[in-house]
Amino acid sequence: MKTEVKPITEQSLAEGGALIRAGELVGMPTETVYGLGGNALSADAALRIFEAKGRPADNPLIVHVSCMEEIPPLVRAIPKAAKRLMEAFWPGPMTLILPKADCIPSEVSAGLDTVGIRLPSSAAARGLIRAAGVPIAAPSGNRSGRPSPTTAQHMLEDMDGRIPLILDDGPCAVGVESSVIDATGETPVILRPGGITPEMVEQVLGRVSVDEHVMSPLREGEIVRSPGMKYRHYAPKAKTIIYEGDASRVVAAICRQYDEAAAAGERVAILGFDEHDFGNRTRISLGSASRPQDAAARLFSALRELDERGETMALCEAVGLSGIGLAVMNRMGRAAAFDIRQV
Ligand code: TXA
Ligand code: MG
Repeated sequence: MKTEVKPITEQSLAEGGALIRAGELVGMPTETVYGLGGNALSADAALRIFEAKGRPADNPLIVHVSCMEEIPPLVRAIPKAAKRLMEAFWPGPMTLILPKADCIPSEVSAGLDTVGIRLPSSAAARGLIRAAGVPIAAPSGNRSGRPSPTTAQHMLEDMDGRIPLILDDGPCAVGVESSVIDATGETPVILRPGGITPEMVEQVLGRVSVDEHVMSPLREGEIVRSPGMKYRHYAPKAKTIIYEGDASRVVAAICRQYDEAAAAGERVAILGFDEHDFGNRTRISLGSASRPQDAAARLFSALRELDERGETMALCEAVGLSGIGLAVMNRMGRAAAFDIRQV
């Protein structure tokens, strides 16, 4: 199958919508990352998504809608706290886990009786959903185990020959996937941090809870609230280490480790901030240290670059855990198997 990449026009959106209605898969840009979209009401489309991604069938898909009115038929209930989060943060980079209605096939929810719903802010994504005339199930558009794609080119790298069309809306503004919030109970729990931060949720609800696995690896045999937590994600081939602490000590520790590893024959790269001086050592920029949203927007492409360049070791500067920093550290932490060294 030939995979075409087309810019967003009325015509390409109509074409994408028709493909989805016909049971095919389409690369869908969103404000977070590119998604691999299919008809969310079709078990067949869901199976195709799992196959194209190489994804384990027990990891459920997020269902995307274009407006609030499309939500009631998809869920059995909307708890009060969920309603307030919707009003505050949709359209936007937030997924709410809600009790699933019967029209969502169990293939989409991976057998769970809940479903993740998301109303994206991306006009392209909403245009595609409207053109399809059905809600769109879409996981991130990477092959399983690879970093999520933040450009159409990244998605093509992973999906070339597997799907007919990728819609190109340029680089994603947020760059990390949506916040996944379990909103089935009275106190919503953040299962995956993202653009809607714990601080923002707390402002609306006066309380917030963050699942303990956001910043810690799983213990063997442990039961998780979100199947995605089980899988090793975002893992570059390079051995990845994160350094956390006072900036000048972090820079010194990274330079020391770099020189030692390079002398031992490793190909080393630093994921570091523009303000910091690493001499002429190889650095992939995470943007400005004063703007954690830069690191969010660049992290996945930096992880892809590591593999492309054949690096065998990556030394990363940590980001503070407040705001979107928690999402960055969750993804970076998983890429590093939570090898975070305090200096
Ligand atoms: O930003 C995003 O959320 C992107 C774009 C395309 O919208 N999508 C995305 O999907 O990141 P995916 O499938 O790569 O990640 C969805 C995560 C997985 O970790 C999954 O386990 C979790 O959400 N999830 C989905 N449905 C769930 C449910 N019913 N209960 C618990 N966790 C769920
Ligand atoms: Mg994903």
